[in-house]
Amino acid sequence: MRLGILTGGGDCPGLNAVIRAAVTRTVRTYGGHMLGFENGWRGVFENRVRDLDLGAISGILPRGGTMLGTSRTDPFRQSGGIDALRAALERHAIDGLLVCGGDGTLSASARLAEAGLPLVGIPKTIDNDVRGTDVSFGFDTALTTVVRAVDALHTTAESHDRVLVLEVMGRTVGWLAVSAGIAGGADVILTPEQPVSVSETVEFIRHRIARGRDFSIVVVAEGAQFKPEPDGRVIETPFRVDPEGRRRYGGIGDVLAREIEERLHVESRTVSLGYVQRGGTPTPFDRLLGTRMGIAAVDLARRGEFGRMVSLQGGSIRSVDLQVVREGPRPLDPELYEVARVFFG
Ligand code: F6P
Repeated sequence: MRLGILTGGGDCPGLNAVIRAAVTRTVRTYGGHMLGFENGWRGVFENRVRDLDLGAISGILPRGGTMLGTSRTDPFRQSGGIDALRAALERHAIDGLLVCGGDGTLSASARLAEAGLPLVGIPKTIDNDVRGTDVSFGFDTALTTVVRAVDALHTTAESHDRVLVLEVMGRTVGWLAVSAGIAGGADVILTPEQPVSVSETVEFIRHRIARGRDFSIVVVAEGAQFKPEPDGRVIETPFRVDPEGRRRYGGIGDVLAREIEERLHVESRTVSLGYVQRGGTPTPFDRLLGTRMGIAAVDLARRGEFGRMVSLQGGSIRSVDLQVVREGPRPLDPELYEVARVFFG
């Protein structure tokens, strides 16, 4: 058995655990061979590939990032497209390719699998927005990082009677913002799925002040959208468009802090955690999940079950049709948001 593996999209903690497990399962259990493509799909097009033997994976389990590198290369925008990919897999006599990716990488993989390429998907993301799995690895580590930040902000916000706004990742979903907000005890949480206006946010903080709480913590997802103000004015979420046409968010925390300070006359500051959320050593949960998924992905390939994605369902590792990811990002569970709302204001 000859398998390939690549990691695409934004990196996240736990990818190396997957690679280590997949190589070990392939080599030690099945006596097979694993090739690693560098920098996501780009490595397949550019023939940047290396042998992954047991020596190559030594020591990578606790390391964040991905030893293979990653990119946001869209295989359908590369010259040669699907034919070039097929030729690359044939050139290396690859029986199956394991693709670790988020929403974007896996959606492309689903299209490729539909066209007959022997792919197995492995969901990774700190956003936790891949459909078909209860949790993606990477999320728990990012959540831990954000909750630590909320805890740290609490003590200084309280000492200075300030409003501290924490901007976290999440372009289209609020899993990270809401989970961290609940676990860290935030006073207001803004997400892309449940628009809240600036006026409502200010009112929540005003209520707290009326209750004698002179500091507040606001957690806002970078892609949160504001509900229009009572006078109809719409406050926009800042973003830039990258060369691929993707929205790159950042700055909503500053917008919010400025508005809060102007309207409430309470000192308000912003912290944007940015890429700190994607880095660092994976938590035990993410190492465990990545390891289980890496092994399950190899087993699927071994059985010739291509076009599937490994998934966590109620604590068990199973698989789903990879096509499920094409339905778009998995929105936040409304029940979780309702839990958060109980503590607003
Ligand atoms: O991996 C998903 C994500 O973390 C988003 O929440 C964020 O907007 C995005 O990646 C930013 O990634 P990059 O700047 O690498 O494109």
